[in-house]
Amino acid sequence: MIMGWRGLMGFEYGIVQAPLGPDISGPELVAAVANAGAIGFLRAPDWESPEYLRDLIRKTRSLTDKPFGVGIVLAFPHEQNLKVVLDEKVALLQLYWGDVSPELVEEAHQAGTRVVPQVGSVEGAKRAIDAGVDAIIVQGHEAGGHVIGQDSLTTLVPRVVDLVGDQEIPVIAAGGIVDGRGYVAALALGARGVCLGTRFLATEESHAHPLYKTKLIEYKDTEYTDIFGRARWPGAPQRVLKTPFFSDWRSLPPSENELGQPIIGRSTINGVEKEIRRLAGTVPNDTTTGDIESMAMYAGQGVGLIKEILPAGEVVRRLVQEAQQVVKDKFGEM
Ligand SMILES: Cc1cc2nc3c(=O)[nH]c(=O)nc-3n(C[C@H](O)[C@H](O)[C@H](O)COP(=O)(O)O)c2cc1C
Repeated sequence: MIMGWRGLMGFEYGIVQAPLGPDISGPELVAAVANAGAIGFLRAPDWESPEYLRDLIRKTRSLTDKPFGVGIVLAFPHEQNLKVVLDEKVALLQLYWGDVSPELVEEAHQAGTRVVPQVGSVEGAKRAIDAGVDAIIVQGHEAGGHVIGQDSLTTLVPRVVDLVGDQEIPVIAAGGIVDGRGYVAALALGARGVCLGTRFLATEESHAHPLYKTKLIEYKDTEYTDIFGRARWPGAPQRVLKTPFFSDWRSLPPSENELGQPIIGRSTINGVEKEIRRLAGTVPNDTTTGDIESMAMYAGQGVGLIKEILPAGEVVRRLVQEAQQVVKDKFGEM
């Protein structure tokens, strides 16, 4: 128990705030999470924007003196962004949707940056271990956002834990976890930490549009789909909130994508103004205008357990308190 409880990679708690793209986990959220003793991740832009990313890192540093990380989606252009992360000696680099090479890991280690990929399978974990990573986030099918995991956490986490064996590579569980019960369940499966996206999306500091946050409280169900962003990010299914818009469009023929759709709004994403077409895969952020209710709203299966928008630091505190209570109540007498 104690092993998994504290000190995940030197941080106070084994709680991780997932990078939330595009432009949803900014400096305010990441700093609030870091200041509460957990691990927060910025999300690099989907295009090369090294100076913008450098500003995000520096702004975060002006809000916290604790370490934090940056997430990069390898499916998008990222070489210059990656260089900035290493140049700024950011504590942690999270990687998703692409191959993590031993060379990349070595380069990061030379900069003093630890590498934490998110994988969705035993094979993905094997490749990450072979590349020399420092920790592995294991994503289950329950997860919100783009989902690489095809299995449930209940089976995938123990398999990866067994694969890691006695190597010093903490396994972090991601998908559907929103409270202390989920945290303890993940520890019981052998994880050393938990990574939460949807719970941190529904915080005061996240850049999600206020209406999106309201819908996270209002709607309880999600669906795994690929109707959003087929042109922007092909072959990348998502888990989304079952909004009325989604229910109307969920059977979109495979030949169609957002390119044939009308513009329904505008967003400033990482400093760049973008038109949002219907069925685009970009969730509404706090700059978005237009028909917000018809935009993609990613959420994990745990969304039905989220009752209120909280400050991010409070999310961290409650997770720890609830988890300690669960352990005391359920296992204290044993
Ligand atoms: C709105 C949203 C955006 C996300 N964006 C990213 C991203 O940019 N990079 C990434 O690695 N994961 C991203 N994820 C997935 C998370 O890393 C994580 O796997 C997931 O949130 C865990 O499931 P949960 O949402 O049920 O907690 C996103 C998730 C959500 C809900």
